[in-house]
Amino acid sequence: MAISIKINKTQHSRIHKVDFENIQFGTIFSDHMFRVDYSDGEWKNPQILPYGDILLAPSLSALHYGQSIFEGMKAFKDQNGKAQLFRPVENIERMNLSAKRMAMPELPEEIFIEGLKQLVKIDEQWIPTKIGSALYLRPFMFATDDYVGVRPSKNFTFIIFTCPVNSYYPKPINVIVEEKYVRAFNGGVGFVKAAGNYGASMLPTFEAQQKGYDQIIWTDGREHEYVEESGTTNLFFVIGDTVLTPNIDGTILQGITRKSCIQVLKDRGFKVEERKISMKEIAEAYDKGILKDAFGTGTAAIIAKIAGINYKGKDLILPPVEEREVSNLLYNTLGGIYTSQVEDKFGWIMKI
Ligand code: COI
Repeated sequence: MAISIKINKTQHSRIHKVDFENIQFGTIFSDHMFRVDYSDGEWKNPQILPYGDILLAPSLSALHYGQSIFEGMKAFKDQNGKAQLFRPVENIERMNLSAKRMAMPELPEEIFIEGLKQLVKIDEQWIPTKIGSALYLRPFMFATDDYVGVRPSKNFTFIIFTCPVNSYYPKPINVIVEEKYVRAFNGGVGFVKAAGNYGASMLPTFEAQQKGYDQIIWTDGREHEYVEESGTTNLFFVIGDTVLTPNIDGTILQGITRKSCIQVLKDRGFKVEERKISMKEIAEAYDKGILKDAFGTGTAAIIAKIAGINYKGKDLILPPVEEREVSNLLYNTLGGIYTSQVEDKFGWIMKI
């Protein structure tokens, strides 16, 4: 189906005001956004318009009951300066999984991909090219019923805006194992990108930061024993020659970077296990001197190397980041594929 998108370009680009050398993640927004609205059971009026404020009713249902979901993606430039996307179909599939769980309408893949491509094309000058930087793309959908009763909204808005970004974590992070708060429980919404998951993580993360840590390692809600995610990223450990990551079991986000890392590692002959991982196992590996690497993976962070883990008051200090085989290999391989410096043997790049 051909999608016809109405385009209203800004007459006042802000790009000349941006210092691309000093970008703080999530603070600078490019010139345009894509928007499509849902009513009477249909997505209507796809349009690209200047980035700007939107008018919301105080009774807007998303603000009260949290029917709101999002995605995180990135656009890059290849070696000839042409814009490209990384695995965008994975994002629309995951967004529709989130939509289903949150009783929101699915967005047809062709509207998502066409809107995204045209938006990135229009603002392609905004894609930074410094190593580790990208144009971060933020698709999100929220309920717009002007109604305070609790029931699924009948009206929704979907928007994509974009921001030039550098690394989410400029340096290796120190984390603390969380044994009081819980991120997700089986049967809940931890496996999808519901806005509320992030809202609920803020107090625990703030408390960890007050203690001097950058992020937390979430553990399971029943025993606080099995590791789940770290901050906003999926989690990997290297013990001896085995790469371990928690299996996707209903509480863990199905990270696209996670999935890509597993594929790269298997392709390179690494042994990768997706299974329950207890903090006891991690601490024992540390005591034996075989905990070689630990890192988070995510679109924004790419590979967030973990410098140290505080577990029950003890700091497990990991090897220096420059000596780490797995996280460095992944960072270099993914970074290379993003910008076509490394062959895209898995077919992950979509040209614009
Ligand atoms: C992403 O990696 O895109 C995320 O969702 C993290 C974000 C909350 C900054």
